[in-house]
Amino acid sequence: MARDDETYLRSSIDRNKLPVHIAIIMDGNGRWAKERKLPRVFGHREGMKTVKTVVKLCGELGIKVLTLYAFSTENWTRPKQEINALMRLLRKYLHKEMDELIQNNVKFHFIGRLEQLPELVQQDLKWAREKTANNTGLILNLALNYSGRADIVDAIKKLTADIENGKYKREEINEVLFEKYLYTGSLPEPDLLIRTSGEMRISNFLLWQIAYAEIYITPIYWPDFSRKHLLSAIIDYQRRERRFGGVL
Ligand code: IPE
Ligand code: IPE
Ligand code: MG
Repeated sequence: MARDDETYLRSSIDRNKLPVHIAIIMDGNGRWAKERKLPRVFGHREGMKTVKTVVKLCGELGIKVLTLYAFSTENWTRPKQEINALMRLLRKYLHKEMDELIQNNVKFHFIGRLEQLPELVQQDLKWAREKTANNTGLILNLALNYSGRADIVDAIKKLTADIENGKYKREEINEVLFEKYLYTGSLPEPDLLIRTSGEMRISNFLLWQIAYAEIYITPIYWPDFSRKHLLSAIIDYQRRERRFGGVL
């Protein structure tokens, strides 16, 4: 059996050492399209297929949380036509896939400044959250209008409000309390952070939460990222020694 065969890769995974939370910076849709002399939007459309593939596989493997960086606060600087296409694709994904996602026990969670998203998108997010509220499988956490710095600033605002209204005293602030105020407050922190398309940067994603995440960067463009690539990333993660600053 070839070493990159999916069956072989699956059998190489240690089910007892799975990352609990995988976070992905889905990058390279534009370049994928450009290489084919297609408009960027075609890359985004193709990228949605990868989203389906990755969500399905994470569910099969029993991953608890999958966070996908879908739209950053900086992405508003892109051409309006591209932004509209991204919003449309998101809404289409939610509507087209909902039945299957429910069948697969997926539960939606969203992070970011959601109140600044178009009204119709906000309505769909609410609908998706309610439809999947009782599901107990994979938590599909979509980062939309997300910025790691905004996440921290918004947490500070909420925490200081709770100090002013007497819920906590200033002396009680510590890391454990603070992170409950982040958009990811109810979620475990990422164990594995994947970025596609080879860029060696974080681009304002989960700044606080990735303090000890293992980083995996692949040159593959997001539309080409397959089941085999995700399995390889998990295998690579499992070979690493997580030391958390200590000695083993
Ligand atoms: C990632 O692909 C998708 C989003 C940011 C929504 P890009 O659109 O950033 O693709 P490149 O980086 O231009 O190739
Ligand atoms: C990061 O990709 C944001 C998302 C994947 C949504 P970008 O393509 O926007 O980031 P930069 O511009 O390469 O830093
Ligand atoms: Mg990009």
